[in-house]
Amino acid sequence: MGGKFIIVGGASLEGEVSVSGAKNSALPIMAAALLSRGRTVLYGIPRLRDVMVMKKVLECLGAEVKYQGHCMEINASKLSSHEIPPDLTRKLRASNLIMGALLARVGKVTAAYPGGCDIGSRPMDLHLKGFQLLGAAVEERGGFIHAEFKKSPVGTEIYLDYPSVGATENIILSAVFARGKTIIKNAAREPEIVDLQNFLNKLGAVVKGAGTGTIVIEGVDELMEGEHEIIPDRIEAATFMAAGAITRGRVKINNIIPEHLEAVIIKLKETGVSVNVGCSSVEVHCEGPVNAVNIKTLPYPGFPTDMQPQMMALLSLGEGTSIISETIFENRFKHALELSRMGADITVEGRIAVVKGVQKLSGTFVEATDLRAGAALILAGLAAEGVSVVENIRHIDRGYENIDLKLRTLGQKLLDLINKMQRLCCFFWVYGGHAFWRCKVCSLWALSIKRILDTAKAAIP
Ligand code: UD1
Repeated sequence: MGGKFIIVGGASLEGEVSVSGAKNSALPIMAAALLSRGRTVLYGIPRLRDVMVMKKVLECLGAEVKYQGHCMEINASKLSSHEIPPDLTRKLRASNLIMGALLARVGKVTAAYPGGCDIGSRPMDLHLKGFQLLGAAVEERGGFIHAEFKKSPVGTEIYLDYPSVGATENIILSAVFARGKTIIKNAAREPEIVDLQNFLNKLGAVVKGAGTGTIVIEGVDELMEGEHEIIPDRIEAATFMAAGAITRGRVKINNIIPEHLEAVIIKLKETGVSVNVGCSSVEVHCEGPVNAVNIKTLPYPGFPTDMQPQMMALLSLGEGTSIISETIFENRFKHALELSRMGADITVEGRIAVVKGVQKLSGTFVEATDLRAGAALILAGLAAEGVSVVENIRHIDRGYENIDLKLRTLGQKLLDLINKMQRLCCFFWVYGGHAFWRCKVCSLWALSIKRILDTAKAAIP
């Protein structure tokens, strides 16, 4: 069972929310901790399903991991295996980052092809090419990859045909102990790679250039102990910005790094949403209609593919027609069909989606087909009339920490109103800690109560 969110739509979100540590930083940095023969302490690790899977992977390899609150202590002084358990690899795409770390640390690694969101083919050719250029023998057999440094790795120049985030991170990890200099050209420039570089350098590595297209790694003999704080999750922040906009609300998002959100901020401003940027916060305010805009997903600093579904939800209620081009993943429009079930007018052809803005969305049963698709459906549910049931929320739990709790905080004023109303005449359902209630005005609540109860009853197994 994937679990469900029940969302009563129609209310403006108001208030402040704080962003958690970035999932896409935490996962590679957890993998990188395997390179240290000592103890590493990581702060700001979000409590997410993907993090729990990665923790299990580290433990299966012999590392000791203590995880309390948002603090994780990893002791990788003694590793006992070079084989990543296939059941865990298939659960988490980012587990492929363990490959580079294990290769560098113990000289060999065996792993199954990784799983993760079903958004495209997601090959590993660039990762493996990097390992080979560093001197590893790589063999692919029966769905497994085996890589081994039969001799000590030697630094070299590696050109990536595409600035893949995972390949850039994996090659950095595998090259940390290589003799001499490794230069990665056309490297990915995502902030999470800068975070990885900063972490590695705290442990004694010499990595320069992250955030640019050329990264240079000077091999060192070993890495020591260290501590590091994970950067805030820019995609979570952007999702809350879109939530404020789609509900015509006013939301302040704290604990952000504004530079990481530039493309999203610019696009939201183009839609007519007011965005006020502070030092480590951003406030989004939207009263009127949202203008149609065109979006093209690109590697950082371009518009992030991980925000494309949420923007599609927002633009489905825009004024006019928006064109969305998805250039990163070939199969990342599954949410379009689900949004259409709610009344959106979206046509998909290949990697292009044409979104014609509609006046309203209506709540219904929809399915989260992947992590960000799930986030888009939550946003659509918040803005829709009536009740939405988002099924398969296990995908959403992979990447958003306490999203239901955070959204409930933003809907607190409304909850107070509903609580008062409840005392008067109604009762409402709480389902599995995953229900949020939204309602624009009392009359809408009163009118929709039967539908809410019917939908909630149907949703509860
Ligand atoms: C990372 C993020 C993910 C985000 C994506 C793009 C993590 C844990 N995940 O995923 O949230 O959506 O970046 O910003 O950080 N490719 C190849 N060959 C390879 C590797 C990749 O062709 O060897 C292609 C992929 O098929 C895809 C594109 O490159 O079309 C981008 O993939 P990549 O940047 O590697 O994404 P991930 O690291 O998997």
